[in-house]
Amino acid sequence: MESISFDRAADIYDQTRSHPPGITQSAASVLAGLLPAHANLLEIGIGTGRIALPLHAAGFRLTGLDISRKMMERLRQKQGQQPGPNLIEASALSLPLISGSFDAVVGVHVLHLIPGWRTVLKEVRRVLRPEGSLIIGYDWHPDDCPSSLLRQQWDKLITAYGIQSHPVLSSFEEVLAALRQMGAHDEELIGAEWTKSFTIQDELARLESRTWSATWHVPEAVLANAVLRLKAWSEVTFSTLNAPYVTPRRFIWQRFTWGNNQAAKGTEDGQ
Ligand SMILES: C[S@@+](CC[C@H](N)C(=O)[O-])C[C@H]1O[C@@H](n2cnc3c(N)ncnc32)[C@H](O)[C@@H]1O
Repeated sequence: MESISFDRAADIYDQTRSHPPGITQSAASVLAGLLPAHANLLEIGIGTGRIALPLHAAGFRLTGLDISRKMMERLRQKQGQQPGPNLIEASALSLPLISGSFDAVVGVHVLHLIPGWRTVLKEVRRVLRPEGSLIIGYDWHPDDCPSSLLRQQWDKLITAYGIQSHPVLSSFEEVLAALRQMGAHDEELIGAEWTKSFTIQDELARLESRTWSATWHVPEAVLANAVLRLKAWSEVTFSTLNAPYVTPRRFIWQRFTWGNNQAAKGTEDGQ
């Protein structure tokens, strides 16, 4: 199995994955507060620059890497004539970069797309300075909110058809365990908090139209049947498919460090 390129999503990525106005910028400011001024950053899976462009605007030196040329073309279009990050078309499995050259490596919604993600962690460690950090960002919502319940039911339906719902990585806990085994200390920060309003009907439509990469490997016939069954389940489970539900959302940063820098000391002092 190969890494999942987002070439096919380049045209819809920003409409379907953007945060409400100001949220990504807030998350970038929280991250900026963790880093030395003018730090040299690498983002693996930079995509269309959703996270990278606010960081670049905050004055960091930034290199971005992706296997999807189309996603990076979108980034270039957005930055126009402005100087932007240094972009490299390559896989995070084998970073064409000098060892010990970055203050931080950022990865947002990328490791679950790379079957060899453990190798990526080793590559990241190699290109980081000894006091550098790996910073993983992700979107969070409660496990018991309607969209989570819907996705959990989707996973069950797909599994019943013999299709693995998350073939590469089933949970972030696996990444945490691997990094701790590599001697990393970790701390979690909330980058931003907001609420999102959505309907069950919208979520069903997003699954049916394969908006999420988790549906890309599902065969057409399975997808069509699973959506029908999920709709029937939703009609019984939720009072309505069309009324908006409002749920809390967060953007979380998880910072991993090795050795004796501040974050590591904080963790050790707290033990
Ligand atoms: C979900 S997008 C996230 C983009 C960006 N980090 C963001 O949060 O908006 C994941 C990106 O990782 C890229 N990707 C997948 N496998 C990769 C690999 N082995 N090396 C580098 N990038 C990869 C995809 O092409 C896609 O652009």
